Amino acid sequence: MLPLLLLVAGAASTAAASGDGCRVGCPLALAAYYFSADSNLTFIASLFGFDYTALLPYNPAITDSNYIVTGVRVSVPFRCSCLALLAAPGSTTYLAGSLPPYAVSRGETYDDVASEFANLTTSAWLKATNAGPSDKVPGAGTVNVTVNCSCGDERVSPRYGLFITYPLWDGETLASAAELYGFSSPAQMELLRRYNPGMDGVSGKGIVFIPVKDPNGSYHPLESGNNLSGGAVAGIVIACIVVFVMVIWLFAFFYRQHKFRQPVLLPSPDEPVQLGNASQAEGIKVDRSIVFSYKELFNATQGFNMDHKIGQGGFGAVYYAELQGEKAAIKKMDTQATQEFLAELKVLTHVHHLNLVRLIGYCVENCLFLVYEFIENGNLSQHLCGTGYEPLSWATRVRIALDSARGLEYIHEHTVPAYVHRDIKSANILIDKDFRAKVADFGLTKLAEIGGTSQPLPTRVVGTFGYMPPEYARYGEVSPKVDVFAFGVVLYELISAKEAIVRSSESISSAKSLVYLFEETLSTPDPKEALQELIDPNLGGDYPIDSVVKIAYLAKSCTHEEPRMRPTMRSVVVALMALSSEDQELSLEQELFPREPRSG
Ligand SMILES: Nc1ncnc2c1ncn2[C@@H]1O[C@H](COP(=O)(O)OP(=O)(O)O)[C@@H](O)[C@H]1O
Ligand SMILES: *[C@@H]1O[C@H](CO)[C@@H](O)[C@H](O)[C@H]1NC(C)=O
Ligand SMILES: *[C@@H]1O[C@H](CO)[C@@H](O)[C@H](O)[C@H]1NC(C)=O
Ligand SMILES: *[C@@H]1O[C@H](CO)[C@@H](O)[C@H](O)[C@H]1NC(C)=O
Ligand SMILES: [Mg+2]
Repeated sequence: MLPLLLLVAGAASTAAASGDGCRVGCPLALAAYYFSADSNLTFIASLFGFDYTALLPYNPAITDSNYIVTGVRVSVPFRCSCLALLAAPGSTTYLAGSLPPYAVSRGETYDDVASEFANLTTSAWLKATNAGPSDKVPGAGTVNVTVNCSCGDERVSPRYGLFITYPLWDGETLASAAELYGFSSPAQMELLRRYNPGMDGVSGKGIVFIPVKDPNGSYHPLESGNNLSGGAVAGIVIACIVVFVMVIWLFAFFYRQHKFRQPVLLPSPDEPVQLGNASQAEGIKVDRSIVFSYKELFNATQGFNMDHKIGQGGFGAVYYAELQGEKAAIKKMDTQATQEFLAELKVLTHVHHLNLVRLIGYCVENCLFLVYEFIENGNLSQHLCGTGYEPLSWATRVRIALDSARGLEYIHEHTVPAYVHRDIKSANILIDKDFRAKVADFGLTKLAEIGGTSQPLPTRVVGTFGYMPPEYARYGEVSPKVDVFAFGVVLYELISAKEAIVRSSESISSAKSLVYLFEETLSTPDPKEALQELIDPNLGGDYPIDSVVKIAYLAKSCTHEEPRMRPTMRSVVVALMALSSEDQELSLEQELFPREPRSG
């Protein structure tokens, strides 16, 4: 029952994030107004109730207000507040800027008004937010115009509190729009997807929210004290109850269905299933995996409902479901990701290990789906960035390192053929309910040509910036040492809770890799002292510094520029085992002879 409750709470909080039960607003949000041939700054400013000079600080690129290139986006400031639907008293609130009433001229329709606002609002939304029936603008008079906005989300990142509301024009996507605002690295895109659920891959319609810099050129951090308003709390409580009742009801419903269900979906273990994808040369034998039907997956996720979504990666969205009585995570990939799908299916049906996520089954109807055992505690990156999770203790971090090292050692050294994961990073390490780690996301996994004397063949370079070793990023050389390097970066993350690419708040150009940052620190005259600066403050000074120093040096050797100088995963496991037993002795000692926690 407890996990169920957690799930319900999770569902309610995503609901809060997506608008209903809105948080307090913020004094500033921006709107990206598409500048067309018949616009001018005075007109745009008047729509938002400003003098046009108020726009200038937000648009440093506009040097001559009489000459603006058509198609440029003008950033218009406005106040972002919690509003309620006028037409439906008692409805939930949402975040938007309420603009001055727009005076309609005769014969003007909602469509016309929406286009005056350069699609920052839509005619459907104008209808919903204005009292009165029908699609006709009510007689003469005025129309209430609201423009949706975002003030940030502390569950995603505390770093961003100023957002631009950007309507996607023909051919534009979340990624292309973000690039206009210099927000485009893989890590930033990952964040953007969380700020804009459901908008990834959408092209040419809808609104997206992108973090932007203020006129001083820096990102606004999230205002602290963005607490839930009383009404919002009440809303969430009600939502919780409603969702809870629904979940119970669904439970009962599925339970009843299950009773009559034949296990027809389970092919017998000795009868391998042939994956129906003729274009793949060999065809893959998928033994002991369950083939699910699309309908089944659809029903178990209420039609891939947002409330079931638990993750988003480069290749697909991941949903929570219960299938045949087992908690499962379903990764939905579009058909373009065939290669990644097949790679993952191939590895996970051949390789079984406690520290690798387990595949339950798959489905190839409509989209490509992989069904895994559900891992309760999210991914390591979420634990480290401190959104919604208690900070991990040092001993837990060492154990997570050891667990993931074991998973990697297994695919490098104990399987035939051996594999290289190629996308090791904290987001691809899952944490289970006992805080044991499992390596996930085998979409980029490749066969390793181990033992061959020939140089590994160069391949298309895929992976994540900040985790790629130089020989791979430059020459595409794949070997297990690619994973060893990335694992070293994960160790640095465990120590510092910083991302693999560290940006200073002022400018993107001063970004540094975590590897470089640690190398700098470890080469100072007193590395032990210097290291303290980098240690995750969330540890609260509670760590044995010698253990931290050892892990830092282990990470340094893993991230050695020269692949041959990096240790194998087997030696990494041995090193970590020694450290983790030391840690255990230490914590036993602390239990027997308690003393003040060390300060950092
Ligand atoms: N089995 C699982 N249980 C719980 N969460 C999962 C599971 N698999 C994936 N996730 C979540 O979904 C995210 C993306 O999954 P991943 O397999 O890495 O997809 P991608 O290939 O798109 O990166 C993960 O970071 C994790 O948060
Ligand atoms: C600005 O645009 C509005 C509406 O398109 C128009 O009425 C107005 O005359 C224009 N002003 C200038 C200075 O061009
Ligand atoms: C604004 O937000 C509300 C609530 O989330 C949503 O229903 C509506 O469609 C949005 N309007 C536009 C124009 O995107
Ligand atoms: C703006 O919205 C209207 C109505 O939804 C749509 O027809 C038009 O294509 C949109 N404009 C662009 C350039 O996307
Ligand atoms: Mg991933």
